[in-house]
Amino acid sequence: MDAFVITGPTTLMGEVSISGAKNVALKAFVASLLTTDTVTLHNIPIIGDVLLMLDVLKHIGVEVEFINNTVTLRSPDSLIHTVSLEVGAKLRTSSLVVGPLLARTGMATIPNPGGCRIGARPIDRHILGLQKMGASITYDSTDGFFHVEAEKLHGADIIFDKNTHTGTETILLAAVLAEGKTTIQNAAEEIEVDDLINLLNMMGAKIQRKEKRVIEIEGVSSLHGTEYKILPDRNEEVTFAIAACLTDGSITVSSSTRSNLIHFYEVFSAVGGGIEEINETTTRYFRKFPISSIAIETRPHPGFMTDWQAPWAVLMTQANGISEIHETVFESRFSYVKELMRMGAVISFFDPKVSNPESFYNFRWHDQPEGYFQAIRIKGKTDLHNAYLAINDLRAGATLVLAAIAAKGVSYITGVQQIDRGYEAIDKRLSKLGANIKRINEGNI
Ligand code: EPU
Repeated sequence: MDAFVITGPTTLMGEVSISGAKNVALKAFVASLLTTDTVTLHNIPIIGDVLLMLDVLKHIGVEVEFINNTVTLRSPDSLIHTVSLEVGAKLRTSSLVVGPLLARTGMATIPNPGGCRIGARPIDRHILGLQKMGASITYDSTDGFFHVEAEKLHGADIIFDKNTHTGTETILLAAVLAEGKTTIQNAAEEIEVDDLINLLNMMGAKIQRKEKRVIEIEGVSSLHGTEYKILPDRNEEVTFAIAACLTDGSITVSSSTRSNLIHFYEVFSAVGGGIEEINETTTRYFRKFPISSIAIETRPHPGFMTDWQAPWAVLMTQANGISEIHETVFESRFSYVKELMRMGAVISFFDPKVSNPESFYNFRWHDQPEGYFQAIRIKGKTDLHNAYLAINDLRAGATLVLAAIAAKGVSYITGVQQIDRGYEAIDKRLSKLGANIKRINEGNI
């Protein structure tokens, strides 16, 4: 296992290109199961989760070629309908293969999905939707697998009680080849969902977003191959914007998608972040004013994304005054806090007053374990210092790397494979921006 050794503080300056969006790539691979033609996908990041998801597809029989940042996939006539525990349980998106496998084989057997440990992350909303489309689903607690069957799925009117990003995508991937029309109400608005819709429509699907949160899918009898370039990763762009402001540097980002970051920009500018539009797809980020404190609340798109709150917390350690972060999407996404406190950050947990928590929070509030807090208060400004740090989820990992770059002294970060799951060659790209970061074997610390 790898670890990072980071010596700070450094000011990050220079140019960086944004990779393709992980949270589109993983679903785009699954779309290729819907046809026996070849599907070619460009702008695919070379990251751990992509390699794991390609493994899931290889195990069920898909031919995969991954050269540079292009993946070519071809599903043969016959597919294996079981996702093995060995590969499937490592990745939440493995459950997305259910709809396409039902369309192709009438059966799907999948392990309880894994992914980042940021809460219970059940898939009950996905299951209710698939059942409404005619799937028979049983969970066998003796083997940990969902056993799903359907001769042919049919269209249905699906109403999600709460936002679900991959739940919406599960239904999309199941409905494109189902008999008749499916309507998803309270569908996720995330731009990654729309990119998947674009790809599926290029393959011959008939999907329309009728209103912001209503998607209509007219089932078709077959799909065909295509070539598609997935959109850049907005979460990565936010990470670099925060890095520039945090270190009082200047980072120019190419493959920038400003239109996807409107809510982030409101908050970023409000605390002193600078945004300069260089051209349509290039943006420079920097610190315009001394960083000031703010209270934010995470929400599904178009709100402040839950994926941004961990790096945001590091920025707020450099703000004068008290900042607050209220996490409303996942029930456990503050694993990085105790690590930041090790570096001198002054952070306390609290539970904000919420009048109807069950409907307000995106997770299942009544199932929340004892001792979880949904918000933090950060008192700044604090000079961060070096520490030994452990990473346990992807965004938290990027957060600790930023903190170590801004902190005084030599920090050691273990669990780097969590960052490698979602950020392509983060150490090399940060080095080019001036960071003093070295990758070593964990055993050498
Ligand atoms: N939820 C349920 N039941 C369900 C589905 C969701 O209780 O059936 C709960 C979840 O446990 C969570 C909340 O509802 O508390 C929201 O879940 P959602 O389904 O919207 O999120 P997700 O699909 O698990 C995706 C991304 C996340 C991103 C969120 C929010 C992928 C693979 N993952 O997660 O990305 O934070 O949407 O947009 O697309 C990451 O990239 O590191 C990451 C975690």
